[in-house]
Amino acid sequence: MIELMKEKDLDQVVEIEYKSFSRPWSRKYFLNEIANNDLSELYVDIIDGEVVAYGDLWYMFENCDLTKIAVKEEYRKKGYGYKMLKYLAQAAKRKGCEFMHLEVNVNNKDAYDLYEGYGFEVVRTRKRYYENGDDAYDMIKGLIGEEEPRKVLAIESSCDETACAIIDEELNVLSSVVTSQIDVHARFGGVIPEVASRMHVEQISVIVNEAVRQAGISIDDVAAIAYTIGPGLIGSLHVGAIAAKSLAFFYDKPLIGVHHLKGHIFINELIKPLKYPMMALVVSGGHTELVYIEDDQSFKIIGTTLDDAVGEAYDKVARVMKEAYPGGPVIDALAKNGQPHYQLPTPKVDGYNFSFSGLKNAVFQLVKKEEEAGNEINKADLAYAFQEVALNSLIAKTKKALQEYPCQSLVLAGGVAANSRLRQLMSEEFKDIDLILPPLKYCTDNALMIACAALHYLKAGKVVAFTTPSKPSMSIED
Ligand code: KG4
Ligand code: ZN
Repeated sequence: MIELMKEKDLDQVVEIEYKSFSRPWSRKYFLNEIANNDLSELYVDIIDGEVVAYGDLWYMFENCDLTKIAVKEEYRKKGYGYKMLKYLAQAAKRKGCEFMHLEVNVNNKDAYDLYEGYGFEVVRTRKRYYENGDDAYDMIKGLIGEEEPRKVLAIESSCDETACAIIDEELNVLSSVVTSQIDVHARFGGVIPEVASRMHVEQISVIVNEAVRQAGISIDDVAAIAYTIGPGLIGSLHVGAIAAKSLAFFYDKPLIGVHHLKGHIFINELIKPLKYPMMALVVSGGHTELVYIEDDQSFKIIGTTLDDAVGEAYDKVARVMKEAYPGGPVIDALAKNGQPHYQLPTPKVDGYNFSFSGLKNAVFQLVKKEEEAGNEINKADLAYAFQEVALNSLIAKTKKALQEYPCQSLVLAGGVAANSRLRQLMSEEFKDIDLILPPLKYCTDNALMIACAALHYLKAGKVVAFTTPSKPSMSIED
C-alpha cells in the first residue's frame, strides 16, 4: 500500500537509496524532506512491512517535479515503478497540478521507458547535465484529463465507531477517519445501544466531511457510496445507512451494502494480495467464525460459536475481574505476566464449531469461590489461564479446518486479531501457508475495511436499493 513516508521507513528507504544511486540522498536529507519541506511529498509503497518502492514530488503552483523514484532491487521489472508513478501523478492531480515534470539521464533506458510508457514526453535535452558529463532529458506529462481509477466512499457505524474512508480501486487510500465512542461506553462497562446511535448521529456528518476534505476530492468524483448493512446494532447501522442513502440519492450514485465481517477480511488486501481459496478466522466482539472463501464472491461458514463470541468472553472475563471495558486489550496485557497456575476446562465441541460460555462460567465460578474463601485472585495468572484455553481452541479448530479445506492463504480478522498472543500462536502454527495478520490499526472497526470490501461488490455489480433495510443479524453467506 502506498502511503506518505514516515520516520519509521527511513532505514529501509536509505538502504535502497544507497544501493540504487551513485549520488544518493543522505538520511538527513530524507528526514528533512519528510519533516520540514512543506513543498514536498515523499511516498513509500509497503508490502507486508517491507518498503518496495518510494517516490518524491515537489510542488510548484500548477506544476510539480518528480524528484525521485526508486524500486528495491528484487522488486524491479514487476510494475512497482509504474504503480508509484501513477499514484504520484494522481496525488499531484488531486492537489490541482496540471503538469508533472522530471529529468532523466539519457542513458538510463529503463527509467526512460517507464516514463515514456506512462505518457511523459521529452521537451528538451540538457547538455552535460550530470557530473559525469551525461545529458538529461526534460520530460513533461499533462495531468488534466488523466483517467483515474474508480473511487468508493464508505461509511461504518455498526457498533461504537463512526467512520468514513475513501479508497480507489487500485487500493490507494485517499482518507480514513475514525472516531470511537469507547470512552463513553467504558463508563457503563459495555456498549449502550441507544447512546451509540445518538453519538453516531452527532458525529456522522463531521466524519464524512473530514474524509472528503482529507481525500481532496468532491463526492461527485466517487463511483459509489458504500456502508455497513449488517450485522451490528440496529440503531447504529441505521445512522450509517441513512447517511449513505442520502449521499447516494443526492449525488446520484450507486449504493453498496457491505457485510461488516467481509470488511474485516478484505482490509487484509492492503497488506498483500489475497490468494484463493482462502480461510478466514474471524474473531470479534460479536462473531467467532471459520469462513472458507473459494473466491472473492463465495463465503461458506464452516465453523461458528455455539454461544459467546471470543471477544465477548474476553470482555466478560475482564468484567468479573473488575477490569475496564473493552476487556480484550486488558486481558492481553495482564496475561503477559501470568503463570500457569489456574486450571480451566477446554471447550469440547464437535467439528469446527466453538464454545466459550463454559470457559467463561468456569472463570466466574473460580472467582466466586476464591472471593468466598477470602483469597485474592491473581489476575495475571487468571488472564493467562483463560487466554491460553480460549486461543488454543481457535488454533486447533483452524488447523483441523485447513486439513479438510486446503487453502492458499489464511487471514485473521476482527477486533480480537489485535491480540498479541493469538498473533504469536498463529505465526508459530501456520508456517506452511500464506498467513496474513492485519496490523493493529486495521483490527478494530474502521471504514477503510468497508471500502476495501465494497470494491469487490462494485466489481461484481452488487448494489442495493434505497428501500433495502439494515440487517442486524446478517450472515456472511447472504
Ligand atoms: O471487531 P471489533 O472491533 O468489534 C466487533 O465487530 O465486535 O471487536 C471488538 C472486540 C472486543 O470484544 C474487544 O475486547 C476485542 O475485540 N479485542 C481484543 C483485543 N483488542 C480488542 N481481544 C483480545 N485481545 C486484544 N488485544
Ligand atoms: Zn468489527
